[in-house]
Amino acid sequence: MVGDNSLKVTIILGTRPEIIKMSPIVRECERLHLDYFILHTGQHYSYNMDRVFFEQLELPEAKYNLDVGSGTQGKQTADMLIGIEKILQKEIPDVVLVEGDTNTVLAGALAAAKLGIKVGHIEAGLRSYDRSMPEETNRILTDHCSDYLFAPTSTSKQILLHEGLLQKNVFMVGNTIVDAVKQNITIAQTKAQIQSKLNLQNEFMLATSHRQENVDSKFHFKNLIKGLQLIQNEFKIPLIYPIHPRARKQLQLFGINPTGLTLVEPLNYLEFLQLESKAKLVLTDSGGVQEETCILKVPCVTLRENTERPETIGVGSNLLAGTSPNRILAAAKTMINKSKNWTNPFGDGNAAQKIVKILKTKACANKSRKLA
Ligand code: UD1
Ligand code: UDP
Repeated sequence: MVGDNSLKVTIILGTRPEIIKMSPIVRECERLHLDYFILHTGQHYSYNMDRVFFEQLELPEAKYNLDVGSGTQGKQTADMLIGIEKILQKEIPDVVLVEGDTNTVLAGALAAAKLGIKVGHIEAGLRSYDRSMPEETNRILTDHCSDYLFAPTSTSKQILLHEGLLQKNVFMVGNTIVDAVKQNITIAQTKAQIQSKLNLQNEFMLATSHRQENVDSKFHFKNLIKGLQLIQNEFKIPLIYPIHPRARKQLQLFGINPTGLTLVEPLNYLEFLQLESKAKLVLTDSGGVQEETCILKVPCVTLRENTERPETIGVGSNLLAGTSPNRILAAAKTMINKSKNWTNPFGDGNAAQKIVKILKTKACANKSRKLA
């Protein structure tokens, strides 16, 4: 991992989507023999939410794992902040990289910024304008304490500029999820066994839901499941729901019985990509899944009232449906036979290369100034 001593990079991650979306950055650091290491907060820790992605994507072990585990918003973030600070004080990297909007991202950015270490935020400038979501607070605060803002699209770039962030710090580079999809789709489609394992020879649909605002509310979660059942009843094809541990816990707590749906444990990335790319329709509240369906040209219905990925709505790959059962059914009817001639707004699959190149230029220049 050590080679180019001109730049020392710390990649901070902690959850499933961060491991997947950071994987192209890790590969690029490896390719260029950069001096970098991974710091894992341990926000996700179950095998199928964490380790499986390191194994499958052949990522190097994290140098540190804080094992913070689950907790309230404040405690989880605070535990990470304390642990990350100690490591950064010891390692003194030139730049810390975080991606997305989880508590890990905010804690990583804040710990680095307070120590005067440069922060690069990948996936900067996304806004749902819904402050009831913990992710929206994380996005805004992370953007405003970052030095390098890697916006995926022109929309996110404009949002950052309107919020007063300096143009010289904002870089439109696409989203690393395109890189990850391109790097893995062929092997997912040809080698993953999940379609045959679930006996899905013909058409099927795929759903995911785990967002706090949906699954922690009995009213919303019950309605969402009812909406999925209405769709399954209408189209009479299997609807597969790989269930996130948070959603699993809440289903049990609320005593909701999802009859008719095919619930499976969370899938590994290749399995999920295989089902996602071959599904007739995907229903989700996930951010990453809204992006991936758009890239894979699969119609998507988003089980939320808003999205920080408005580009998907703009190009026509995605429709917002909230959690009301009849609205979910209506959106599914609109999307299921939609023509898939939209263009992917998230870039060409070279985001990781662009990000690392910018870092090498900017952060190295900054380092030379400091040393001079
Ligand atoms: C977190 C992110 C969310 C992201 C999601 C990706 C925040 C505020 N939320 O939500 O933005 O979309 O990750 O999947 O950062 N659990 C396990 N095993 C695990 C992890 C979690 O069983 O490996 C269960 C625990 O019961 C835990 C619950 O899931 O209490 C929620 O986990 P948490 O990390 O707090 O939030 P997520 O819902 O995963
Ligand atoms: N994913 C996966 N297995 C699953 C469900 C999702 O590998 O069973 C992947 C999916 O391909 C996407 C990412 O997880 O890349 C999305 O993560 P998640 O929905 O947990 O978080 P969000 O994107 O909403 O933050």
